[in-house]
Amino acid sequence: MSSDDLLSTAEVWTRRRLMQLGAAGALSMSAPRLAQAAETAVHRSMMNVAFEKREPHVALIGTGGRGTSLLGNLLAAGAQIAALCDVVPAKAEHAASLVVAAGQKKPALYTQGPHHYEELVARGDVDLVLVATPWNWHAPMALAAMEHGKDVALEVPGVRTLEECWQIVRASEQTRKHCMILENCCYGYNETLILRMIHADLFGELLYGEGAYIHDLREELFSNAGEGLWRRTEHTLRNGNLYPTHGLGPVANYMGIQRGDRFASIVSMSSPQHGLDAWRKQHLAPGDPRWQERYICGDMNTSLIKTVKGLTITVKHAVTSPHPYDRINLIAGTSGLFQDYPPRVYFDGMNKDESFASLDAYKQYQHPLWEREGDLARKSGGHGGMDLIMIYRLLECVRQGLAPDLDVYDCAAWAAVAPLSVESVRRGSAPVEFPDFAQGKWRERPISAIATQA
Ligand SMILES: NC(=O)c1ccc[n+]([C@@H]2O[C@H](COP(=O)([O-])OP(=O)(O)OC[C@H]3O[C@@H](n4cnc5c(N)ncnc54)[C@H](O)[C@@H]3O)[C@@H](O)[C@H]2O)c1
Repeated sequence: MSSDDLLSTAEVWTRRRLMQLGAAGALSMSAPRLAQAAETAVHRSMMNVAFEKREPHVALIGTGGRGTSLLGNLLAAGAQIAALCDVVPAKAEHAASLVVAAGQKKPALYTQGPHHYEELVARGDVDLVLVATPWNWHAPMALAAMEHGKDVALEVPGVRTLEECWQIVRASEQTRKHCMILENCCYGYNETLILRMIHADLFGELLYGEGAYIHDLREELFSNAGEGLWRRTEHTLRNGNLYPTHGLGPVANYMGIQRGDRFASIVSMSSPQHGLDAWRKQHLAPGDPRWQERYICGDMNTSLIKTVKGLTITVKHAVTSPHPYDRINLIAGTSGLFQDYPPRVYFDGMNKDESFASLDAYKQYQHPLWEREGDLARKSGGHGGMDLIMIYRLLECVRQGLAPDLDVYDCAAWAAVAPLSVESVRRGSAPVEFPDFAQGKWRERPISAIATQA
């Protein structure tokens, strides 16, 4: 897909929305006039826009594995749960029982089919909607929530296609509602500590970073429950970096992406696909319907992103071959580098044998969020506590009327990596440009909100 195609997608969306908003003559507007009208009537940036200050009333769509875990974090952080939705009534009932056990009244349940969420988002007593459903549902659910005046927070990887990226950006700008990404890895103990070390200038001028989602999901992908019911299908549809944000989000924060820099272009290549075929051979009986599936996503995708300022980021995706869990989480500058798994640092002139040092000596950079809520986070669980920290911080932003840490521009730019990597792989690893979802406003926002807040 060329950048012209991307623009035309945005244009179609803009024209439609202008017509919905009653803009006279939107249908017959020439492209330049449409762009101008869009600029004034549609493109009012949501960057640095504060949440309306309130005690949030939360609804959760998708009460499967992730939704139930998020619900535990929401309850631990004292959130009021007004409504729950899942196509499987037993899952919604189980989630409701957790809300009741936490001392709240039973939330309203929406379990009548895949579109029942449309009634949930129309409720007057809900103002914040969390979405933890299969990927193909994220965009329609986010758009419906914003159209009904609700802020929305999407589970990773955000949305699936470039068109959806533009749609959530435009919808957020028009409705003045936020569409955030729930990228929990940005709130990890190490990630927040490193972010503060970067802003204390320990790493010098930043040069390059690396992130990954390397997680052997073969058994889960073939499970007859949970993600096995839908996630394997993604491997039959696209060949690229399907799940980039866990590795990329923290690196983007370190580098200040959408805060003085942005992703400019990507090149991507995929290894052959053999992992799912081999697993199927070992585990499936002859005649199993899953023998009909054809997997096209390479077992290891390696993508390289270049930023406008020239920094480089490697993003890997490997979920279908044996490998210990690894997000790499590397950031390097002129004074030294940090790399995770295990966490270690190396600074210029540190020692003669060029060995890494432990991160333990840098505890004074612990993030204030972890200082305040670390005990609760570790107790509540969820990926070492980072899930609780993320949810706590989301609620804090709403309660205090702050701008969200990770807004619709972060969501769109990070989510775009999947479709752009697919496009680059399809074109023999040709470079593909990122759209500028924030239309230049990224230049005006110098530092990550996670780094600045105390
Ligand atoms: N941030 C993390 O660490 C993390 C971890 C796991 C999963 N996830 C993400 O969370 C999301 C959900 O994953 P999961 O593991 O919970 O999957 P899951 O299959 O366990 O849960 C999805 C739930 O959505 C429900 N659902 C499907 N279509 C629906 C619809 N139209 N309306 C209402 N409910 C619907 C399903 O019945 C199911 O209960 C995915 O985006 C996944 O990538 C994130």
